[in-house]
This record gives sequence, C-alpha cells and structure tokens, in this order.
Amino acid sequence: MVESVFIIGATGKIGSELARQIISSGDTDSRRHRNPTRIVGVASSSGFLYDASGISDSDVLAFSTKRTKGREHAGLGSLFDFLGGIEKPVRIVDVTASPEMLWFHKRIISETCHSIVTANKLPLVLNSFDDFQLLTASHGRYAYSCSVMAGAEAVSFMRDIPDLGESFVEITGSFSGTLGYVSSELGRGSLLSEAVRKALEKGYTEPNPSIDLSGKDLAYKILTLARTAGMRVDLEEIKLTPFVPDEYLSYGDPELLLGRLGELDSAFASRIALLKGNGKALRYVARLSCAEKGGVPSVTVGLEELEVAHPLAQLQGTANMIIIRAGPYGVNGNLPYIIEAPGAGIDITARNIRRDLLSQIEDRHSAPPEQPQP
Ligand SMILES: NC(=O)c1ccc[n+]([C@@H]2O[C@H](COP(=O)([O-])OP(=O)(O)OC[C@H]3O[C@@H](n4cnc5c(N)ncnc54)[C@H](OP(=O)(O)O)[C@@H]3O)[C@@H](O)[C@H]2O)c1
Repeated sequence: MVESVFIIGATGKIGSELARQIISSGDTDSRRHRNPTRIVGVASSSGFLYDASGISDSDVLAFSTKRTKGREHAGLGSLFDFLGGIEKPVRIVDVTASPEMLWFHKRIISETCHSIVTANKLPLVLNSFDDFQLLTASHGRYAYSCSVMAGAEAVSFMRDIPDLGESFVEITGSFSGTLGYVSSELGRGSLLSEAVRKALEKGYTEPNPSIDLSGKDLAYKILTLARTAGMRVDLEEIKLTPFVPDEYLSYGDPELLLGRLGELDSAFASRIALLKGNGKALRYVARLSCAEKGGVPSVTVGLEELEVAHPLAQLQGTANMIIIRAGPYGVNGNLPYIIEAPGAGIDITARNIRRDLLSQIEDRHSAPPEQPQP
C-alpha cells in the first residue's frame, strides 16, 4: 500500500526539512518500504501543488525551497474543499503555526476519510476538551507526538495511563528547550539579557524571544499532556507566570526587548547568587498535580527554585525532562518514570513527524534487504 501525504506548511522550517528528509532518506522508495510514502500535495499560505499519482522529488523540493509557488489558493477554506473532494485517504501533515487550523482539523476528522499528523499545537489546546477528544479519538487518524518534546515518548506514555486504569499523581517537567537553555546559562554566570541574546543567536528562540519568555508554549505542552491523560483541563485554568513580567513582553523588535531585559540583569544575578549559596537552582517548570484519582488537577507554569540535586536542576543546555508519577511508577515510594530528550530542533522534529506518519500505517514494514545476485 502506498501512503499518500499532503504537507501543509511545506515552505516553513520544519515543512521544508520534512520534505527533504522524506526524499533523501528513501521513504518514497518502494524497494525499501512495503508502504512507501508518496507526496501527493504540498501547500504554503498562498499556493499548492497536487498530483494524485505523486509529485516528483524535484518539484517538491522546488516548492519547499520557494523556487516555485504552485497554483494559488484562497486560504484554508479552499484547501479544505479541495481535500474534501479527494476520495482516497490522504495523510495531512500540519506544519503551520496557524490558529485557523482549529476548525480545519475538526472538519478533516469529522467530515472526511483523511488523517492528520500535526506539529502545530494550537488545535490541541485552543479547542475545547470535547474537541480534543473528537480529534484524538482514533490514534490511527490523529498523531501529535511531535507537539510535545518533538516526539519523545511523553504523549504515548500519558495516553496509556488511563487505558491501564492506573492512578495518576503528578507530572513535573522542564521541557522548553529555550527556557532551559536560558536558565542553565544564568546558573553559569550569564546575565539575563546575555543569556537570551545567546539563545536568539543560536536559533533556539522564536524570531521574537518574547514568545518564548511568555511561557505560553510550555503551558500548551503541559495542557496537551494533561488532556492526553484524560483530564478535562482548559488553558484558562493554568496558572501561568511568564519568565519575566508581562510589561517586558510587548516588543515586536528583539533588540528593543533585549535592551529592556538589561533592567532585570542585576535582580536575576542576585537571585541566582543567593540560590547558589543555599544549594538551589532556578528552573522554568510546568507542574501538573492530581492528588486523588479523578480529582481536579492543578496546573502551574513558572520559575521554581529547586534543590541542586533535583533532576530538573541538573539539566543543562536545551535538554528537556519530564518526571511522571503515576501507576506503579512514583506511587507508594516507587521511583518516578523519567523521560529525557534533547531540545527539539528542526531536524529532530521533522524526523519524528516521519515516525508519526509511520505509526499510522497498519501493516508497515521495511522491505527485506535485497539479496546479492549470484
Ligand atoms: N521550529 C521548531 O524547532 C519546532 C519544533 C517543534 C514544533 N514546531 C511547530 O511546527 C510548526 C511549524 O514551525 P516552523 O518553525 O516550521 O514555522 P514556519 O517556518 O513559520 O513555517 C510555517 C509554514 O506554514 C505555512 N502557513 C502559515 N499559515 C498557513 C495557512 N493559513 N495555510 C497554509 N499554510 C500556512 C507557511 O507558509 P508561507 O511560506 O506561505 O508563509 C509556512 O510554510 C509550528 O506549529 C511550530 O510550533 C516547531
């Protein structure tokens, strides 16, 4: 069986890397895969290419690197109508960051035969919990592992907890690669404005670091995990404290932001020095607690002062970690279950979107290696 894939956002950082990997890793090669991938569609915010029998590798690459624009489309409404008219199931990959995808995902899942793999978190967290359940009811039709820790096993672990009938206690995590990097740089003696500038220069932040410093992305990720474990939580219920006060987060220009952050340098430096003297470290932490089975969960996201021996305090650079206490893990004194992964980069995220695509194939296998001819 051939797997037909339509990438929306194919001209973006992740989308273009995904197209490159699918082609260069041999996913399209029927000699290597019993279920080879066929890219039937690629779309940007304004144009698209479609060919039911597969777009040539060179055309996909020309589109994803913006050397060609394809046919114009009039927005997601017209793409939906187009996809709705395709009778054979297509795996739609959402690598946009578009909030318009909220309705698009719902209509694809409820009105068509197609499936979705998403790296875009917004439909998972800005939609209601009931909509989240509608989207994720069939694992084979909706894969979103890449939305949290770029595809490390956090989503699948959380999904299994209710199905195993296990009691859930707490998740504690530091899984914003950017804020992890800034925190560990502060611990190494950098000033706040220097640490954020380094993160920006290394490409760890969004083009505007205010988005990272707002902490919203971490709030989205912990909400996704909570909902995956079956908890009816909405974004407004999360107690979110940004990395720096809100008044610093309204600058569109990174240089203006970095200039203002200098005002906080000495306060952060004194706080870090005091913490060090007390054997503690500062980390940006998401915490989801559910003291009793079925109880109302409480979710907080913000800076925490942790003992240096705490596993989250020992994280360095962009590394991510989640500590889960649930079921036989971390209950009655057992050790917690810990998931650690490198911070998400463009290549790792694209690779794990390919894993999500593979996970949707029922009868998937690599073809046996070719025997040498006598
Ligand atoms: N970057 C990372 O390391 C990373 C890691 C994990 C997850 N993610 C997630 O992956 C997603 C993509 O991130 P990115 O960094 O690749 O973003 P990006 O570079 O900004 O690319 C966005 C892509 O989406 C397209 N697009 C935007 N609005 C659209 C619309 N309404 N209809 C169709 N296409 C639309 C853009 O087309 P144009 O070229 O026409 O603008 C572009 O191809 C985001 O949701 C992000 O949160 C990113």
